[in-house]
Amino acid sequence: MVIAMECVGTCIGEASPSEAYFISKHIVKFGEYVLLEYDGKKVLGMITELKRINPYIPKDIHDPEVVDRILSIEGGNEEFIRGKIKLLGDTEKYEIPKIPPKPGTKVYKADKKILKKIFGSGDIKIGVLANNEEVEVCLDAKTMVTRHLAILAITGSGKSNTVSVIVNELVKLNAMPIIFDMHSEYVDAKFASETNVLEPKLNPVFLSFQELKKLLNIDEKAYIQERFLRMAYKEAMENVKSKGASLMDEMLIYLEKTADTKDLTQSERNAVSGVISKINDFLDKYEDILDEHSPDIIKSLKQGAVNVIDLGQVDEDYADVIVSHVLRRLLYARKNREIAPAFCVLEEAHILAPAYRTTLSKYWIDRIAREGRKFGIGLCLVSQRPKSLDANSLSQANNAIIMRLVEPSDQRHVQQASERLSDDLLQHLPSLNVGEAIVLGLMIKFPALVKIDKFEGKISGSDPDVVKEWIEMKKEKEKLEKEMKEEVEEFYSW
Ligand SMILES: Nc1ncnc2c1ncn2[C@@H]1O[C@H](COP(=O)(O)OP(=O)(O)OP(=O)(O)O)[C@@H](O)[C@H]1O
Ligand SMILES: [Mg+2]
Repeated sequence: MVIAMECVGTCIGEASPSEAYFISKHIVKFGEYVLLEYDGKKVLGMITELKRINPYIPKDIHDPEVVDRILSIEGGNEEFIRGKIKLLGDTEKYEIPKIPPKPGTKVYKADKKILKKIFGSGDIKIGVLANNEEVEVCLDAKTMVTRHLAILAITGSGKSNTVSVIVNELVKLNAMPIIFDMHSEYVDAKFASETNVLEPKLNPVFLSFQELKKLLNIDEKAYIQERFLRMAYKEAMENVKSKGASLMDEMLIYLEKTADTKDLTQSERNAVSGVISKINDFLDKYEDILDEHSPDIIKSLKQGAVNVIDLGQVDEDYADVIVSHVLRRLLYARKNREIAPAFCVLEEAHILAPAYRTTLSKYWIDRIAREGRKFGIGLCLVSQRPKSLDANSLSQANNAIIMRLVEPSDQRHVQQASERLSDDLLQHLPSLNVGEAIVLGLMIKFPALVKIDKFEGKISGSDPDVVKEWIEMKKEKEKLEKEMKEEVEEFYSW
């Protein structure tokens, strides 16, 4: 029985099993939960459309004074609410009834107790319901990790804060989150446990041939160069294994020897010298980050700590190689049960897995998106440009936290990838405030409008105070000019 609950409206018009229209004399809010009782069940719904109407003030009135006069006569300020409810499912089995509610069905405000039961049962607390702050929203960690997560929103609306809140909760469960930190935002963050910052030192010995080829900037169609590089790589690898030699040195030795042989055609000779100069360019460019003694990065990961791979100082090509390398190694390590289940956070996912370009990471992101579930590797794709993000990988994310999104093309892309995002919720995306999100997917029983917690361990992604910087620069310049002037005056006073 729902008698003790507050009645806020009555169903009218045509209803379907998934939506119903209602009118109300109460002020209800967008995103608020309501309960309807029919088919012997209590069914939870979310208000996804709201109109506030005064029947005496239709929209074609064009004189404000007429409105004032209507309001001043008795009964002239009568108004009501007309709205739409998205029916989400019953409160016991969370299933949508097969039949629609009949017209006249009463609409009740969902009470705290029921909402707490529905939204408070997961193991990762991320925030509270935006319309009912007494109700905590918790996600199911297992489903979030194994069914992947996408965090999408325009810049500055709280994606990295959300990542921090989630990761902080995960380490309390002794998980192994790995953040690919494109802007060194997380390196100084204080989480509930240790932050294990990993320098992106790369030992070429652990690279695959394809990764090496990409780093050396050998063109896809440079088949002759590829052939010589492959021979050099094979020979050098054998020497690395048998004599502990340096891979890059051995490759250069092999190629220089090859260049001296007489039976090469001119194009082969050009290809060999091309590869040699590419290896030298590579050694110059990546001098600081190449290290033939650094251990396998997989062995440096720690369970129960926040592993941050700091990619802030490297360019996108290099980041691509590191990410693809780590993901490839992770997948194999998990297949062989060598490491704990992992949750990989990919900031700027549209750069690593772009929609219309091939990258090395894209292949492994897509593979983990498809196969990770079986092996216990989760992906968290974070992006401010969903339409530039590979649709394949995005569609594998069965969970989403969507914050403010303004561009219609971004919204449509998100909707295509997430079947649970209805048109009504989509329309609301531009009006979300910082830190507010629509949370959907298998990790939560029903879609929710959530106010995400503010992460207290402070990440360094907040907007720089540019005005302060300008003023400080001006003061610095004035100070220098003053000092110079004084020095000159002192000099002439002698
Ligand atoms: N849930 C929240 N509550 C309060 N403040 C928040 C919340 N989420 C984010 N903020 C604030 O908003 C600002 C931007 O947040 P954040 O860096 O997480 O955005 P972002 O979406 O990751 O931005 P970018 O696209 O630039 O990476 C920060 O200063 C942060 O403190
Ligand atoms: Mg961010």
